[in-house]
Amino acid sequence: MYNTEKQKLYFDYSKKYLDNQATALDIDELRDILRYHEWRYSIKNDPVIADYEYDSLYKQLEALEASHPELITPDSPTQRISSDLSEDFPAIAHLVPMLSLDNSYNAEDLRKFDEQVRKLAELPPEYPIEYCLEPKFDGGSVAIVYENDIFSRAATRGNGTLGEDITLNVKTLPSIPLRVPFSDVGIHIAELRGEAVIRKDKFDELNQEREAEGLQVFANPRNSAAGGLRMKKPTDTRDREIEIFLYQLGYATDRLGTDMLATINTHNQQIQLLSDLGFKLEDPKELVCADIEEVSRKVKEWENKREAYPYEIDGMVVKVNSRDIQEKCGYTQHHPKWAIAYKFKAKQATTILLNVEYQVGKIGSITPVAKVEPTHLAGVTVSSISLHNEDFITSKDLRIGDKIIIERAGDVIPYVVKSLPDLRDGSEVPIKFPRICPFSESEEVELIKGEGEAAWRCTNCICGRQDLQKIIFHVSKDAMDIDGFGKSYVERFFELGWIKDISDVYNLDFDEISKLEGFGARSAENLQASIEKAKSNPLARLLHSLSIHHLGKKASKLIAREIKNIFDLIDWKTEDFLEIKDIGPVVAQNVQDFFSVERNVALLKRLEERGVNVQQTESDKLKEIATDAPFIGKTILFTGSLQQMTRNQAKEMAESLGAKNISAVSRNLDILVVGENAGSKLKKAQDLGTVQIMSESEFLALAD
Ligand code: IVH
Repeated sequence: MYNTEKQKLYFDYSKKYLDNQATALDIDELRDILRYHEWRYSIKNDPVIADYEYDSLYKQLEALEASHPELITPDSPTQRISSDLSEDFPAIAHLVPMLSLDNSYNAEDLRKFDEQVRKLAELPPEYPIEYCLEPKFDGGSVAIVYENDIFSRAATRGNGTLGEDITLNVKTLPSIPLRVPFSDVGIHIAELRGEAVIRKDKFDELNQEREAEGLQVFANPRNSAAGGLRMKKPTDTRDREIEIFLYQLGYATDRLGTDMLATINTHNQQIQLLSDLGFKLEDPKELVCADIEEVSRKVKEWENKREAYPYEIDGMVVKVNSRDIQEKCGYTQHHPKWAIAYKFKAKQATTILLNVEYQVGKIGSITPVAKVEPTHLAGVTVSSISLHNEDFITSKDLRIGDKIIIERAGDVIPYVVKSLPDLRDGSEVPIKFPRICPFSESEEVELIKGEGEAAWRCTNCICGRQDLQKIIFHVSKDAMDIDGFGKSYVERFFELGWIKDISDVYNLDFDEISKLEGFGARSAENLQASIEKAKSNPLARLLHSLSIHHLGKKASKLIAREIKNIFDLIDWKTEDFLEIKDIGPVVAQNVQDFFSVERNVALLKRLEERGVNVQQTESDKLKEIATDAPFIGKTILFTGSLQQMTRNQAKEMAESLGAKNISAVSRNLDILVVGENAGSKLKKAQDLGTVQIMSESEFLALAD
């Protein structure tokens, strides 16, 4: 729909409007620009401008249409609620439309909002209006329906009326219980609204993993959460570690279809109810404000602690607490008139792209790193920023000497939002991504790029840098987990020539180490003990620690389960690998390639000689729990007499599906399965209200 040329045009146009350089405001042009950015944001999950810039363009269009109502067309972006509908998922209708929010940016905007509410609700100036404050989570919005206490479906916001059916994906998320006792409060059908988000630290981890694997990285947590909801494979959604925070009960009726929302007097009570029912929410009590002045104070406090907040939030949402006043305010087509978003200032800065350097990873991926003029950004000085891969550089049209906008939201690693082509003077130099390994000196080593991969890789390393990365990975927590053996030690020993490959980790001279500056007998001993301990690691860890492309933790476990000894893999054929569920041809090929190289087999022999376990251990034999198992991460308890299985069978089944059996009813219990004649445990769970209660047949149906 948008080729590169067109995209560049729309981008330049946006800049023109944002810099107020558009001489005559062209309403059609502005609409096209907004449509383009909606597409980048909602369909591509990869916006090219900041949210507040989009808002500014949107407001310009709104202002233009307000002064020329005759020019409003039914297809104008202002005339519909933006849509993320695609053909990848069937559409389903929301029980009530999902609206958006109007924005405010300062205390003055908030006061105007308060005045407007007062006017609509016909309240006198001295009447204090109570507001609820909530973080404005920056992710993807979701509507979730429960019917008869059971999770029944989930949808994206879509165009506000129709959403995409993402039921199977949302069902994998541990923050969404599959059964909730709505019937206890008389609710038969409930539609909940919430935001899917990813913790900032998890997001950084995810991107680092993806970069190491040569995969495309995500621009920010919002796009990876929103995109994560719309994966074709539900397990991929689950693997993104998405959480859903609820912020509204959009619809609730009893068995007769009577509206139950009308029985809840305040927004706070509504939120409290959801919290009591076991959903994930900010502590609702903390967030009630007596009047708009308190709101103004509190939003500033939140803006200050935004960095420390574990999730990305781009502002706060201010909602009239009283349902009565809400009703009097009503709605526009686009947003409720009783709520407004208070947007935080964007954590962006402009700097200059001085140079691009390259780094090589453990499997040879070449990562370009921008060296920028040191810039203060959200509390840290930034001088290096990863540019991820060649496509990233091309898509952002980055040139050396460019002025660029960089952003750092919270603890998220800074990234380049865009270059500012309008500010070029002609001296800027396009970045030529190397085709020859930038570290090869005497000999030229060509880089290669696998089909469907984003990274160029050096697969024939002669300089040793990849070996260093491989060793760093080998000792890391994810691999052999050698406690206390950090990156800086590896680098030091590597420079000293003490470790050239991973087998040397097990051949260190601890007397020599204890003589090094900064070391002592004690730390050398500790390191020795950690290395000694790692030698008896399960085979799966050893396999994973070898840095074989695409051979992740899970695949390593699956393979380790099938072999007695690591050397068995020398004779494995593609078919042997493919017999294992969830192992595909790419991993099969890469493992075979690794084992067909004599040097690699010799390396494994050296590891064995130096005492590293190469045999299957008891823990390798343990059955891996599928990541899409229905009870994964949940605690479970069976009570009463079961009819269709023994208590032990039930426990085993629950365990094999990812649950942990516990013996008492407490807040730590997630699921109680109730057999016949259940007694005090059932009563206690009902009283707690946080435990999901199900019958034996319901358990079996879910287990199926
Ligand atoms: S209330 C009828 N509350 O922000 C009320 N929205 O810009 C409409 N969002 O589409 C939304 N946190 O996806 C509300 N605490 C919160 C929110 C929130 C994030 C999102 C939501 C909405 C968008 C509007």
